[in-house]
Amino acid sequence: MKPFLATPRKAVENLKKGVYSVGVFGFGHVGSIIGVGWGLAGARIIGMTLDRKAIRMFESGISPFPEEAYLSEHISVLRRRGLLEVTDDYHYGARKSDIKIIAVPVYLSEEKKPDLAPVVEVSKKIGEYISKGDVVIVETSLPPGTTRNLIKPILEEKSGFKADEDFALAYSPERISAGTALEDFLEKYPKIVGCDSLKSLELVSELYSAVVKKGVIKMSSTLAAETEKLFEGIYRDVNIALANELATFCEKIGVSFDEVQKAANSQPFSHLHNPGIGVGGACIPVYPYFVLEAATKHGIKLQITQLARSINEQATETFIRKIMDAVRLLQKEPVHCNFALLGLSFRGGTSDTRLSPALKILSFIEKLGASIRVCDPLVEKLEGKNYEVIKDWRKAVKGADVIIIASDHREFHEIRIGEASELAGKDLAILDGKNVINDFNAKPRYRVLYVGTGRPSFIIKPDSRKERVEI
Ligand SMILES: NC(=O)c1ccc[n+]([C@@H]2O[C@H](COP(=O)([O-])OP(=O)(O)OC[C@H]3O[C@@H](n4cnc5c(N)ncnc54)[C@H](O)[C@@H]3O)[C@@H](O)[C@H]2O)c1
Repeated sequence: MKPFLATPRKAVENLKKGVYSVGVFGFGHVGSIIGVGWGLAGARIIGMTLDRKAIRMFESGISPFPEEAYLSEHISVLRRRGLLEVTDDYHYGARKSDIKIIAVPVYLSEEKKPDLAPVVEVSKKIGEYISKGDVVIVETSLPPGTTRNLIKPILEEKSGFKADEDFALAYSPERISAGTALEDFLEKYPKIVGCDSLKSLELVSELYSAVVKKGVIKMSSTLAAETEKLFEGIYRDVNIALANELATFCEKIGVSFDEVQKAANSQPFSHLHNPGIGVGGACIPVYPYFVLEAATKHGIKLQITQLARSINEQATETFIRKIMDAVRLLQKEPVHCNFALLGLSFRGGTSDTRLSPALKILSFIEKLGASIRVCDPLVEKLEGKNYEVIKDWRKAVKGADVIIIASDHREFHEIRIGEASELAGKDLAILDGKNVINDFNAKPRYRVLYVGTGRPSFIIKPDSRKERVEI
């Protein structure tokens, strides 16, 4: 019996017995994690993606996201048991599935407007094949009101069925972080589920309680659940902006932000975030715009949200200015410098380069016409570029005049000033965008100009003496 025609308890029993097929529309980073979660709960999974290379990898039992621990193992087990197929045939997946999960992206246009085309496309395909009793769960982060005002009418029009009467409809945002996604989803956080009817809410909450360990937080509407996800992102964006602002202040007065932050956060009401060189990834820099646009439609201004976005967007330009100041301070000509850019991903521990500040820095150096080596232990290739992505930072910094650390990968925490100076073989500037370096009593062979984030800048001389400089 289809899930929305059964009682919630019976539906869960059926899920565990493998009666249901779950179609995941958008089997990417997020979709594959969701699919594995439902597969472990007992469902048969049909993952749908446009990425043919990823399909081939999934078919061989390998995950295309190597940074996600145990994902490949689970994929390979589900494949061997015949519980996972991955295809680019969305009609097939729509026809075959009882539970249909939407996990395609929403992009942001140049004008910072949400592009909902992928969501509209898959909603149409799903709508064509909805059967009475099916369940549709939307997991993509969306501008508030999209499930109710855009997706639901498409599903109803294409299927001829009514949401919450003939099929269940829920919005359930994904709360994972790249690099720890499977654990975040399955074990760490409660799942948020919002529906516009009690009947859909009861069913989807029961089903999700059988998938995730931390249970479900039920929300009274799809709108409230959509808004919850966006507020998580805005909270982080605003706090990162605050950290960036205070970090600049610390640089000027000559104290270390990290020292002050650690002490301040020992008090339970202080949650100072880490400053950085700009916020990347497909989530935090994007969600504030969904809310800002909705606020404008309602005739209000969200000043803090807007200001935080501007501060964080300026952070990369500020860092680039520091790179240039550092080069000048060492009396080097930018065009004749060898740059080593360590880290391409937007954060350590992930290969995700979407909206990564490192890419902006790279384009800036390219425009200078200087020589550049790029290094990232997790990124295989930079789309549309011809760089060899070096895995080992030691190889990347040989002969460098300027080392730029743009992601806090675990491997970069091994960097020591003395060794970097030895490998560079000349006066060197280190722009530590992620504050991974901490051995300031080093005795480098040549002069090293160290510029951190929220830390006073200084030149360390071969005799270990430090000279404070303004950057
Ligand atoms: N990546 C994260 O850490 C994260 C965290 C929380 C929420 N999210 C949400 O999940 C969404 C998806 O993120 P992701 O990281 O999985 O993206 P992704 O690029 O890894 O995967 C997207 C999937 O959707 C498919 N797709 C794209 N456009 C399509 C279209 N027009 N029609 C059909 N399929 C299409 C792609 O082929 C791919 O399989 C994000 O936009 C965001 O809303 C992401």
